[in-house]
Order: sequence, then structure tokens, then C-alpha cells
Amino acid sequence: MKINLSNINHSYNGKAILQDLTLKLEHAEAIAIIGPSGAGKSTLLRLLSKIEDPDSGDIHVNDIDVIKTEAKEYYKKIGFVFQSHNLFPHLTALRNITLVLEKVHNKTPEDAKRLAIDLLTQFELVEHMNKKPSQLSGGQAQRVSIIRSLAISPEVMFLDEPTSALDPILTREVLRTVLKLREKNMRFVIVTHELGFAKKVADYILFMEDGRIVEHGPVSILEKPQTDSLKKFVEFVME
Ligand SMILES: Nc1ncnc2c1ncn2[C@@H]1O[C@H](COP(=O)(O)OP(=O)(O)OP(=O)(O)O)[C@@H](O)[C@H]1O
Ligand SMILES: [Mg+2]
Repeated sequence: MKINLSNINHSYNGKAILQDLTLKLEHAEAIAIIGPSGAGKSTLLRLLSKIEDPDSGDIHVNDIDVIKTEAKEYYKKIGFVFQSHNLFPHLTALRNITLVLEKVHNKTPEDAKRLAIDLLTQFELVEHMNKKPSQLSGGQAQRVSIIRSLAISPEVMFLDEPTSALDPILTREVLRTVLKLREKNMRFVIVTHELGFAKKVADYILFMEDGRIVEHGPVSILEKPQTDSLKKFVEFVME
């Protein structure tokens, strides 16, 4: 996937959060964004996925000019997974997936159902397909959200700490699901505080601090940080 950010600035209530971010990546397949709380990781992910537009600057994802593209069109091409699942509460796991395929992607009900059941089977969730979100465990619900995003065959998926609302066991289940996305060659950008997982799943790391990308490169930068900031962060998280 290609990501091109040029001179991105973004503020909330007059306070600058992202400052002059510039980044050009041509070949990253799975990017992990790491960094301390408040660094601007979620903000950057919201801009990449056009939940918000920046105050100024340009964003290209692959060949899409994100700011110039209408949100509705862009959302057909990307997937987004939040910290906690955002399934429709009154619909079953299966219907949560087929609804989007039918309404947004114009699949016939039969095709939508076939595709959804195929994915639920691959991800070992098919036995839960008739349950509503309240009848699923947190990990299962989050995995259904991931599959719902995947079902539309997006160009890129954006995941913001998909395990932060889960206990360690459920976290493992969800991380396994993300590893499976990688095996399927899905391109994604994930915000995660699990450095061990970032090393395993990503091929590229962005380290953010105070609204800036302080260091970025292949995962090996976690072993050999070039900046004091990343070095301190890795030591702190690994403690
Ligand atoms: N909608 C908003 N309105 C006002 N301030 C915001 C808003 N969203 C984020 N901020 C501020 O922007 C800064 C960056 O927040 P962001 O959520 O991007 O950080 P983060 O790196 O994702 O942190 P965490 O690891 O805790 O999730 C923080 O100081 C936060 O308070
Ligand atoms: Mg965040």
C-alpha cells in the first residue's frame, strides 16, 4: 500500500495536535502505529480513514486523494475497526455483515449470505452467526466487526487498538484474527500498544510522540532505535 502525507496539520479547539506531518511510504503492507497516550495515533488514523479531514495538508492512500474524495465513496474502499466493536445491536452477527454487502455494495441477498458465511467459517465464528452482539463475547463481537470490514474487500483496513477493551484471553483471539488478515495479504494500518504483536504482524513501524512521527522504518527499528524517544518508549513498554 502507498501512504503519502504532506504537511498535515490538525488541531482541536485551537490546540495543535498533529504538526506538519509528512510521510511517504511506497511498499508497506502492514503498518503498526505505536507511541505514548495522547501522541495523536488515533487522530492520525481518523484522518487516514476520513472520519475527519485535517485542517491543512494532503493525504493520499494508494492512488486515492482522501481529502478530495467524498466520504461515502471512500468508505466503500476502506475498512475501519474501532477500540470496541460497533456492530448494530439489534441485528445478528450474520445480518451485520450481509446488510453492508447488500446496501452499500449492491450484492444480492444470496451472494451476501454466501460470502458472509464463508468468512464466518474461515474465522471460526459460524456457530455464532445467529447471535446478536449482546449474546457474543467481547472478543467474538470484535472479530465479527473485523470480518464485517473485511467482507467488502477493502483496499486497506484501519484498526485502532482493537483489543483495548478486552481481557488478555480475548485479546489473544482478536490478535490471532489480525494475524490471519495478514496471512490473507490484507493491507492494514493498526494502532497497538502491544509491541510484541506489532513485531509479529507488521512490516513497518511508525512511532509517534507529541503529534509528530518521531521515527519510522522496518520493524527492526524496535531492536535498534535511532532516537532516544523510541529507545525510552521500548524500554518503558517492555518493562
Ligand atoms: N475530538 C477531540 N476533541 C478535543 N481533543 C481531542 C479530540 N480527539 C483527540 N484530542 C486530543 O488530541 C490529542 C491526541 O489524541 P489521540 O486520541 O490521537 O491520542 P492517542 O495517541 O490515540 O492516545 P491513546 O494511546 O491514549 O489512545 C490528545 O491530547 C487528545 O486529548
Ligand atoms: Mg488512541
